[in-house]
Amino acid sequence: MTGRLAAVTGRLAAATALAPRPGLDSSAAEWHDAEPDLTNPPSDAAPASSPRISIALHDVTKVYPNGRNALSDVDLTVPEGDFVFLVGPSGAGKSTLIKLLVRDELATHGEVYIAGFEVTSLRGRDIPRLRRQIGIVFQDFKLLPRKTVRENVAFALEVTGTPRKRIAATVERALALVGLTEQAAQRPSQLSGGEKQRTAIARAMVHDPRVIIADEPTGNLDPLISWEIIQLLLRINDMGTTVLMATHNAEVVTALRKRVVALEDGHVVRDEVGGYHRDY
Ligand SMILES: Nc1ncnc2c1ncn2[C@@H]1O[C@H](COP(=O)(O)OP(=O)(O)OP(=O)(O)O)[C@@H](O)[C@H]1O
Ligand SMILES: [Mg+2]
Repeated sequence: MTGRLAAVTGRLAAATALAPRPGLDSSAAEWHDAEPDLTNPPSDAAPASSPRISIALHDVTKVYPNGRNALSDVDLTVPEGDFVFLVGPSGAGKSTLIKLLVRDELATHGEVYIAGFEVTSLRGRDIPRLRRQIGIVFQDFKLLPRKTVRENVAFALEVTGTPRKRIAATVERALALVGLTEQAAQRPSQLSGGEKQRTAIARAMVHDPRVIIADEPTGNLDPLISWEIIQLLLRINDMGTTVLMATHNAEVVTALRKRVVALEDGHVVRDEVGGYHRDY
């Protein structure tokens, strides 16, 4: 037992760069232990030898119904396995970009791809399949207050119709991954902020997603706890999961020297590894 969720549940061989991957309900034969080659560090330009794309936006514009233009002509490509910080001042369009990726909002113009799906043209009945490929983490955790940690994580599997007999073991693995086994019977009101966010990350991981999308996951946490959450996301990234994280945390962004995509007024104004040049 390695304790790594991906190693336990296995990873599906994606037949093509953008092929949808079935969720945890797939037959065992479809799964294997294809760990990504992490010896090649991610770069902002995907090398020819690494064609798999996790996220792509082509010429994306989002105008809200009130006329507010939140994103303009955004182009962004994130290879599988990347760790990307999304930065920019308040109102720059970070959450809007994330909402387009998870199909909370529709692009007004352009194409949005994530985990093998073209999101904009996705039929309503296919949205649950998309959401199983994406783990989503929010600043305010979005836990169900009356459910325990274990029940909150299990709920993500129950709503997607995972067979009962698989749920318990999968939940325990996710809780072990985030270090919350001992708190499994506690309710959100009985957890620290960091524990709440780790519960949310366990919930995001239960479907063994290809991508984790986090919108200011450390926004409500003090600096030390923020670092714990970042370390956890880095570990998940090391397991091969692509991570896109919107943040205002300049200290973390500067220290980690990952790829940083900066938005200003709905435009990508910078896309390079390392650094956080402005005080957003
Ligand atoms: N549902 C909506 N209807 C109309 N305008 C919206 C809506 N949601 C966001 N906006 C506007 O779109 C712009 C981008 O907002 P967004 O939430 O994406 O910014 P952000 O970069 O996430 O900011 P923050 O750092 O404060 O979270 C803002 O001007 C905001 O007022
Ligand atoms: Mg936001």
